Amino acid sequence: MLTLFLISLFINEVIYKNYIDEKKSSLLLQGNIIADRVIAYHIDINRSRNGIDHIIKKYSKEIKSRVMIINKKGIVVHDAYEALKDRKLGHWEIKEALKGKSIANEYNLKEYGRTMYVTVPIVLNDQVHGVVFISSSLEDIYRKIQNIMKSYMILSVLCVGITGFISFVFAHVIANPIEKLTDSIKKMYNGNLEQKVEIIGNDELTNLAGAFNMMSTKLSQVDKQRKEFVANVSHELRTPLSAMKLLSESLLHQEKVDPKTYREFFSDIASEVDRLDRIIESLLALVDIDKGKLELDYQVTYVNYLLEKLIRPLKPLADKKQIDIDFVNLEKVQIQLDRIKIQQALTNIINNAIKYTPEGGKIKISLYTEHDEVIIKIQDNGIGIPEESLPYIFERFYRVDKARARKTGGTGLGLAITKQIIELHQGKIEVISQLNKGTTFYIYLPQNIGLNG
Ligand SMILES: Nc1ncnc2c1ncn2[C@@H]1O[C@H](COP(=O)(O)OP(=O)(O)OP(=O)(O)O)[C@@H](O)[C@H]1O
Ligand SMILES: [Mg+2]
Repeated sequence: MLTLFLISLFINEVIYKNYIDEKKSSLLLQGNIIADRVIAYHIDINRSRNGIDHIIKKYSKEIKSRVMIINKKGIVVHDAYEALKDRKLGHWEIKEALKGKSIANEYNLKEYGRTMYVTVPIVLNDQVHGVVFISSSLEDIYRKIQNIMKSYMILSVLCVGITGFISFVFAHVIANPIEKLTDSIKKMYNGNLEQKVEIIGNDELTNLAGAFNMMSTKLSQVDKQRKEFVANVSHELRTPLSAMKLLSESLLHQEKVDPKTYREFFSDIASEVDRLDRIIESLLALVDIDKGKLELDYQVTYVNYLLEKLIRPLKPLADKKQIDIDFVNLEKVQIQLDRIKIQQALTNIINNAIKYTPEGGKIKISLYTEHDEVIIKIQDNGIGIPEESLPYIFERFYRVDKARARKTGGTGLGLAITKQIIELHQGKIEVISQLNKGTTFYIYLPQNIGLNG
C-alpha cells in the first residue's frame, strides 16, 4: 500500500508537470504568433481595429482561450470577448511584458477555477508597443489528471485486495503445518515423545515433517530402551540384595544357630555379593563401551595368537566339565583391532559355550577369511537356544531361562556387550542354534578396519 501511495504521488507530479508545461509552452508560442501577426498587420495597434479584432477572435476560438491586446498604458484595446475593452488592467504579468519579458503564470480563481495567464510583448525595432494577453482555463487538464488518478486509485485498491487475499491464503497454507509442527514439538518438550505430524505433498515443509517424524520415532525408541534398561538394572540389583537380606534376617531371628548353618548362609551371602559385583562390572563395561564409541585403540594383531591367548585361561573351566576345546587354526590372520575389547567379546561367547554345554561336551573354534572378512566361528554341542528366544539374546539382561541362568550365575549382559564391541569394529555377529543340539556363533570382522580411520 505504501509503495502504491508513493507511486501515486510520483505519477500525479509527472502528469501534472507534463500537461501544464506543455500548455505553458503552447500558449507562449501562440502569444508570439499573435504578436507577430499583429505587427504584420499594422504597427499602430490602436488604429487598425477591425483587422486585429478579426485575428484575435480567430485565434481565441482556435486555442479556446481569451485573447486580448493591451497597449503601452495597460489599456485593453482588443478583447476577443469584448467585455474588457477600454479597461485598464494592472496585472503584474502585463507590467513585466511591457518591460519586454514573456510570462506564464497559473492562478486558482474563484470565478473561473484554475487559469493560466500568458503575456507576450509586441516588439518592433526593439520597442515594446503593447502586450498580447492570453487567459486560458486549466480546468480541462485538471479534470483529466483527476480521471487518471481515479483510475489509478481503483487499480491500486484492486491490487491491494488481490495481493492481500493471496497473501492471506498462502500464509494460511504455510502457517498451518508450521503450527502443527510447533504443537508437536511443545508436546515432546512436555515429555510426550511419540509425536507424528501428517505428511502431505512433496515440498520443503513435508521434508521437515518427515525428518521430525524420524527424530520423534528415534527419540521414543531411545527413551523406551532407557526406561527398560533402568527398570532391568534396578530389578537385577535388587534380586541379590533381597536374597542377602532374607539370609541375614533368618540368621538374626534364630536363637541358636549351629556353625554349619552359619557357614552355609554366609557362603550364600558371599555368592550373592559376587553376583552383584559381576552385574556392576558388566554395567560399567557397557557404559565404558558407550563412552568410548569413537576411541577404539586399534592395534595390528594376529587374531590366531589372540584367540590362543584367551582360550588358555578358559581351559581349566572347560576341563572341570570335561569339555574339549578345539581350536582350528588354518591360516594366519592379521588385522587391526582393539585387543582388549575384542578379547572381552570373544571370552563372553566362549564362556557361554562352556556354561551352556553339559559335561563331556565339545567346543570348536575356527578362524578363517572369506572375501574381505575375518570369520571367527564358535560352535558347541550344548543345550541350544529355543527359536523364539534367538531374536532377544543380544538384548541387555535377556536370559533364556531365568531360573537356570541364576544357577549358572548369568547376568544377561554378556552378549549385549559382545555385540556392541563387534559393531564398534564395523563387524557383525550371527547365531544359529538348535535346542539340545548346540549353538554356533559367527563373528565377522572387516579386514580393513581401522585403516581408514
Ligand atoms: N552357547 C549357548 N548355548 C545356549 N544358550 C546360550 C548360549 N549363549 C548364550 N545363551 C543364552 O543366551 C542368554 C544370554 O547370554 P548372555 O551371555 O548375554 O548372558 P548370560 O550368559 O546369562 O550372563 P553373563 O554372560 O552376563 O554372565 C543366556 O542366558 C543363555 O540363555
Ligand atoms: Mg554369558
